[in-house]
Amino acid sequence: MNSVVENNFWRKFRKRTQRRNKQYTLRHMFDLFIQDAQRWYVMGQITPREKITLRVLLTLLYRNMSLRAMAWFRFGSWCQRNGIPLLPGMIQRKLLREFGLDIVVGAEIGGGLYIAHPAGTVIAPRCIGQNCSIIAAVTIGMRNEWAFPKIGDNVFIGAGARVLGGITIGDGAMIGANAVAIHDVPAGATAVGIPARVVGSNHIMVGCAV
Ligand SMILES: CC(C)(COP(=O)(O)OP(=O)(O)OC[C@H]1O[C@@H](n2cnc3c(N)ncnc32)[C@H](O)[C@@H]1OP(=O)(O)O)[C@@H](O)C(=O)NCCC(=O)NCCS
Repeated sequence: MNSVVENNFWRKFRKRTQRRNKQYTLRHMFDLFIQDAQRWYVMGQITPREKITLRVLLTLLYRNMSLRAMAWFRFGSWCQRNGIPLLPGMIQRKLLREFGLDIVVGAEIGGGLYIAHPAGTVIAPRCIGQNCSIIAAVTIGMRNEWAFPKIGDNVFIGAGARVLGGITIGDGAMIGANAVAIHDVPAGATAVGIPARVVGSNHIMVGCAV
């Protein structure tokens, strides 16, 4: 009787998540991962997709621990969005154990995420756009209530920075090393300090080498 109830539970759970995430196919997962790999051919830059051949991809995976972490993250997210039980949690723990990266598997994160040094980095966003750069020991998460940052495209977040609460970081914004962002940062602005204040603007960056 119990197992019948459990089976029904998992069937309903899977149907619900599958309906919700129809677009998160294996192909979509692979696309996002190739975009991640494009950030590693020349570190932090965006390399044209045609340069990422299978051979290049395998070399990049062999050389770059962060890219291996992204591969696990994308696979975990695919499992999560398609209602596969247990695996997402196992992958999330693996990411923390092996790479020191605490990232919410299944979070809405666009392709081309570049995490230079994953150790000590915590990523729990509402969503992150495309081609963002996170350097090292960054925290993206809640402040004192259950609300998480929304981060646009091409955002750069320097080493040790904290982005906290239900704030919005606009496209192309830069958060300086060790800044604590607790207010919205407009598109293209540079914010530094604690709490982070805007000190400049008009940086619409597409990829960034560090
Ligand atoms: C935020 C950052 C991107 C700004 O770069 P930029 O647009 O070239 O800005 P500038 O260097 O001209 O600095 C503008 C002002 O902000 C200040 N500033 C820059 N970065 C700062 C930081 N992290 N914290 C506090 N103030 C900072 C500068 O002193 C300058 O102030 P001033 O005008 O009073 O002299 C850069 O300083 C930064 O923090 N990069 C992170 C790099 C990193 O994470 N490295 C780790 C590698 S492992």
